[in-house]
Amino acid sequence: MPDRRVSAAALVKRKGVPFPVVTAYDAPFARFAENAGIDVLLVGDTLGMVVLGYDATAPVELRDMERHGAAVVRGSQHAHVIVDLPFGAYEASDVRAVESAVRLVKRTGGSSVKLEGGVRSAARIAAIVNAGIPVVGHVGVLPQTAALGEGFRRRTARDAILADARAVAEAGAFAVVLEMVSAELAREVTAALAVPTIGIGSGPDCDAQVLVLHDVLGMYPDPPPFVRRFADLESVAVGGLRAYGVAVRERTYPPRTLQ
Ligand code: KIV
Repeated sequence: MPDRRVSAAALVKRKGVPFPVVTAYDAPFARFAENAGIDVLLVGDTLGMVVLGYDATAPVELRDMERHGAAVVRGSQHAHVIVDLPFGAYEASDVRAVESAVRLVKRTGGSSVKLEGGVRSAARIAAIVNAGIPVVGHVGVLPQTAALGEGFRRRTARDAILADARAVAEAGAFAVVLEMVSAELAREVTAALAVPTIGIGSGPDCDAQVLVLHDVLGMYPDPPPFVRRFADLESVAVGGLRAYGVAVRERTYPPRTLQ
């Protein structure tokens, strides 16, 4: 049976043609994104903050990604669904990384997995790719371990970022997220790689752009400075819920004539 979803190979062919990627964490928003013509969805471990109410990604467990990844797959038809490997699911060994990635794609039906780290994660990426699972790399700011190093400051260290991106691509990643890399450097990395770069806070010259759904739609109170809010769903939601509350208090809902 032919795969009905956009494949990793098809995404590689988009190199040089800008395309949007958005995070999704549940079935309805996966459907909305697909209906909006976005066919690459990332089940990011930002789940921890924007959905589960943690203040970091580190507490997210593999089982959280399984549950939300599966919901996104059920809510979409054709999109390529990338599912994040959470902190603790791949660092210890190649074997552990492959086991986690296999579990994630088996239990979610996701199309690929993503993991953080450049040179230091190259062996993990190669092991997962050798097991037959497409991988997206992630270099620049690495939120899972940001507290240990340079934090969330924009990355400008040219040689280190180039080495990280090259290592990830050479290990077999079919795309690389560049998070908070200076625009100039992101352009250079994008030109240096044969696979697409997916930028977040890294300027306009990446092959693709990714944003967190809750930032795009105005559902999160503290978006990073590079975010543009394309809608204000918080106002819409609060307005709708206020109207419902008023209607119940004033007994205008439900009507007497209908059950
Ligand atoms: O977890 C996530 O949502 C991500 C994006 C910010 C790239 O990794």
